[in-house]
Amino acid sequence: MIPSDSDLLAWYDHNRRTLPWRALPGETADPYHVWISEIMLQQTTVTAVIPYYHNFLKRFPDIEALARAPVDEVLQAWSGLGYYSRARNLHRCAEEVVRLGGFPRDVTGLQALPGIGAYTAAAIAAIAFGVPVVPVDGNVERISARIFAVQEPMPGARRQLAAKAVTLNAGREAHRRPSDFAQALFDLGATLCVPRSPACVLCPWQKSCKARKLGIQAELPKKTPKAERPTRHGVHFLLMDEADQVLVRRRPPQGLLGGTIELPGPEWREKPWNVDEVVEVAPFADRASEALRVPQWMCVGSVKHVFTHFTLLIDVYAARVSSLPNPREEEGFPVALEKVDGLALSSLMRKCVKTGVKGSD
Ligand code: ADE
Repeated sequence: MIPSDSDLLAWYDHNRRTLPWRALPGETADPYHVWISEIMLQQTTVTAVIPYYHNFLKRFPDIEALARAPVDEVLQAWSGLGYYSRARNLHRCAEEVVRLGGFPRDVTGLQALPGIGAYTAAAIAAIAFGVPVVPVDGNVERISARIFAVQEPMPGARRQLAAKAVTLNAGREAHRRPSDFAQALFDLGATLCVPRSPACVLCPWQKSCKARKLGIQAELPKKTPKAERPTRHGVHFLLMDEADQVLVRRRPPQGLLGGTIELPGPEWREKPWNVDEVVEVAPFADRASEALRVPQWMCVGSVKHVFTHFTLLIDVYAARVSSLPNPREEEGFPVALEKVDGLALSSLMRKCVKTGVKGSD
């Protein structure tokens, strides 16, 4: 039995979630709202995104405001969401859309924009422009694995799940209401067809679900066992002068946490750091012969942060000096401690600053 598009849409009409970026029934969604929410939702859950979304729209109410804003302000509004290259792309994309005079209204045009991949292009096209496509995110993959009882483990199954998922909107109602159909799939995945204990008795597709027929719905999609996540070690330094200025620097634009502001420190590595090494890689260590008094570094705490591909353990060292020497460009720049909060720090660095400040009191 083929899953019925009109059954899903009827379920959606009664059970749709109210979300700040979502248009009310009968209204058309604003592409700017849809785009921002989709990029944010790639980072974290709906619940976590909502306050970021409100704050972002307050600061950048429309795409023109976003395009005009300095990229640092965008990074700051993004701070805490992770993957800062997404915030840079957001800004570049806004500039491009303003130049074009509006968002392209089809998947190909959308996908040509900075930071918009196949999924996001399909989501915007379906939700904001009513293009009858199925955006395949993790929720939709899970629904597809269950409806079609796909037993191949992830991530290898991804192509197969997507190929099957795009057949779900073949019916006439789905083509009449592409925006609602895409969002109905998201809501089904988020509220009933959830990872561990799917609420099948409430599901509009329970009769057509092959996994349920076999009683294996909670086991799908299968996962390939993960390799253990390696650990890396970092050291970051909080150097503060008598006027409560601290030394910070900007990470290179490319790569992890690209473009964010951080406390200085050596490159993260696999081996833990010992104190003798730490003193040698501290800020101004190579300039100890200058008038600068050698700071007395103290390890004041450590911070753990789990990235997708590794766990990072950071030792935070703090020291006080009467005045900061004039830094060379690569050494960073001084900033008043009270201004640090307003900079584009990653949440990892916010933790480091907090640890360092507490330890140097
Ligand atoms: N997950 C991904 N996109 C979504 C959206 N637009 N609404 C709710 N959940 C989502």
